[in-house]
Amino acid sequence: MTISILIVPPFSTLCNAAFALRREVFVWEQKVPEAEEHDADDLTATHFVAIAAGEVVGTLRLLDRPEHVKIGRVAVRQAFRGQGIAKAMIHAAMAHARAAGRDRFYLTAQSDKLDFYQRLGFVAFGPEFQDGGMPHRAMRTYDRDSAQLTD
Ligand SMILES: CC(C)(COP(=O)(O)OP(=O)(O)OC[C@H]1O[C@@H](n2cnc3c(N)ncnc32)[C@H](O)[C@@H]1OP(=O)(O)O)[C@@H](O)C(=O)NCCC(=O)NCCS
Repeated sequence: MTISILIVPPFSTLCNAAFALRREVFVWEQKVPEAEEHDADDLTATHFVAIAAGEVVGTLRLLDRPEHVKIGRVAVRQAFRGQGIAKAMIHAAMAHARAAGRDRFYLTAQSDKLDFYQRLGFVAFGPEFQDGGMPHRAMRTYDRDSAQLTD
């Protein structure tokens, strides 16, 4: 299966398809309250989509923070999971940020997804907390030793 990964402007047709996919995954599948799923960061984020079989099957967004680049809203359509799409999107997004001189990455992971992000170089730190009704941990790729110490 050929997968294309693109950056798309907010509220373009492809980005709207990504927003619909986020609703499908986070609101309908994972029961995140709809009001929490989208936020003002969507206006300024860099949105990535993965296209396969002529449809948007994956998405994530990058937020440029002073201290790091935050990866969020990582979602892959159920029927397309387990084929490396999320991994490919995260690699593409990190390469894009690195090309702009940013190499500190941060995210908050659902606690049952820690292994997935650890394989991509993230280390969990800090206490578990609730977000969208699910337990989460903060993770980052930088200051790995201190990240582990505050665990
Ligand atoms: C989590 C999610 C984005 C993974 O997407 P995916 O395209 O199936 O992931 P990939 O196929 O790229 O998996 C990459 C690697 O992580 C592993 N992996 C995938 N999902 C995992 C999980 N839930 N827990 C642990 N490992 C996982 C894969 O086995 C694979 O390992 P490999 O590199 O050794 O082969 C997808 O399951 C999803 O959209 N879930 C619902 C939304 C969600 O939970 N988003 C994340 C919020 S933190």
